[in-house]
Amino acid sequence: PVLVIDFGAQYAQLIARRVREAHIYSELVPHSMPVSDMLAKDPSAIILSGGPASVYEDGAPTVDPSLFEAGVPVLGICYGFQAMAYALGGDVDKAALGEYGKTRTVIDHAEGLLAGSPGEQVTWMSHGVAVNRAPDGFEVLAHTEGAPVAAMQDPARKLYGVQWHPEVKHTPLGQYLIETFLYECAGLERNWDASGIIEYQVSRIRERVGDAQVICGLSGGVDSAVAAALVNKAIGDQLTCVFVDHGLLRKGEAEQVRHDFVEATGIKLITVDASKEFLEALDGVTDPEAKRKIIGEKFIRTFEQAQRQVIEEAGASGKEVKFLVQGTLYPDVVESGGGDGAANIKSHHNVGGLPDDLKFELIEPLRTLFKDEVRAIGTQLGLPEEMVWRQPFPGPGLGIRIIGAITEDRLDVLRDADAIAREELSKAGLDRDIWQCPVVLLADVHSVGVQGDERTYGMPIVLRPVSSEDAMTADWSRVPYDVLATISTRITNECRQINRVVLDCTSKPPATIEWE
Ligand code: XMP
Repeated sequence: PVLVIDFGAQYAQLIARRVREAHIYSELVPHSMPVSDMLAKDPSAIILSGGPASVYEDGAPTVDPSLFEAGVPVLGICYGFQAMAYALGGDVDKAALGEYGKTRTVIDHAEGLLAGSPGEQVTWMSHGVAVNRAPDGFEVLAHTEGAPVAAMQDPARKLYGVQWHPEVKHTPLGQYLIETFLYECAGLERNWDASGIIEYQVSRIRERVGDAQVICGLSGGVDSAVAAALVNKAIGDQLTCVFVDHGLLRKGEAEQVRHDFVEATGIKLITVDASKEFLEALDGVTDPEAKRKIIGEKFIRTFEQAQRQVIEEAGASGKEVKFLVQGTLYPDVVESGGGDGAANIKSHHNVGGLPDDLKFELIEPLRTLFKDEVRAIGTQLGLPEEMVWRQPFPGPGLGIRIIGAITEDRLDVLRDADAIAREELSKAGLDRDIWQCPVVLLADVHSVGVQGDERTYGMPIVLRPVSSEDAMTADWSRVPYDVLATISTRITNECRQINRVVLDCTSKPPATIEWE
């Protein structure tokens, strides 16, 4: 793999993504991992990410210089570039001029890493520290007003670095630079695509499962559907899917899953109505992390109970169900703290919300993948387009879209408002433009309204349409005003108790997509 060493950058995941977009497999590892462990992964190339520290300060993460002697091609980005320069004896110090945002960059030598570049580029920068002098043996390729060395290389040692961020879209030639590094500087070949992933996973799953029984939790979303289809391809009728109705579903969801999924795949499906248990366990709970943990645990308990039914229907009496398939994705793992040094932003129910005494072994064939890769696999496996292109919906469902305690009444109101928003966005043809549009009920907030000449004191509904590539970062969608107007009018007319509709116009970061 190409290893992306994470120095605490907001954009480290993005780098891994960009490498995969170049059809090469990549993985993130924390900077605290010993170099020997990194090399044990047999990396074909290494990319050092950006990060918030200043290399010359006490306690700043450093790079063990032995990393640069292993003969593995290395690209340093921003902090990673400075750390490389610092470790190899360059001069790194506070910048005379910090540069944040789009920056005019002069290319002094369009060769090697910058081969084919125009004489000047717009690059996206975010630095208050600069490399003033490159280490011995390096050639300076570019400079800016605030960065005397903005790009450098030592092709003999296969070491490269740039001050700017090629991984963000605001650097127009960024992907080109990453691909030049991978294909030209490191000499790697494109070998990562949907059919490759399928082949690899199918053989791994067969090997692990043997003749055991497997169940798969289906949520109605893309990820679990694709995970199920993949496992189905590997082991056929040893798989039974379990759809848990936890009472936090959207309108029509249960029927749709039964209909779409079974019809498209022919996979065995049983539905368990556990709404009573879920809602009881969530009674009065308002803390988002507590909600996620309760829901994660309840899911597992429900799967455990469903075992007997699965075995009976599979006609495999006496056999235990040994494995549970989950459609966990890479961003879920990373955001849940992932064990790789990343902060726990929220415990995704299927990662951080699992009970300790889990009786199943987990199969998570999508655990290293991003959403677009999952969609490509789904398409390749022949899943219907409506399913592959469904907007993401979190496993904990409407439970994390009611800010405050969850009650039947509140769920009903939210379900109606959500159905209206979905219907109108679809009618306006915005389904593919919008990554997802959470509809959120601020259940403990009340405001005064006037409806039918009467005073009302009702709850607000928040619309949260976002555009995104993989949910790691997002921007709020500029939905046309007339579509918003229709949604607003319909929700306040048709949903009793709602007298105000507001639009969330915050990107991620600083906000997350869901409110909890
Ligand atoms: P955030 O709110 O972290 O969401 O910006 C990123 C993406 O993940 C979804 N999400 C979840 N999905 N279990 C899930 O299966 C969860 O606990 C969970 N929390 C957030 C969210 O809808 C968005 O697509």
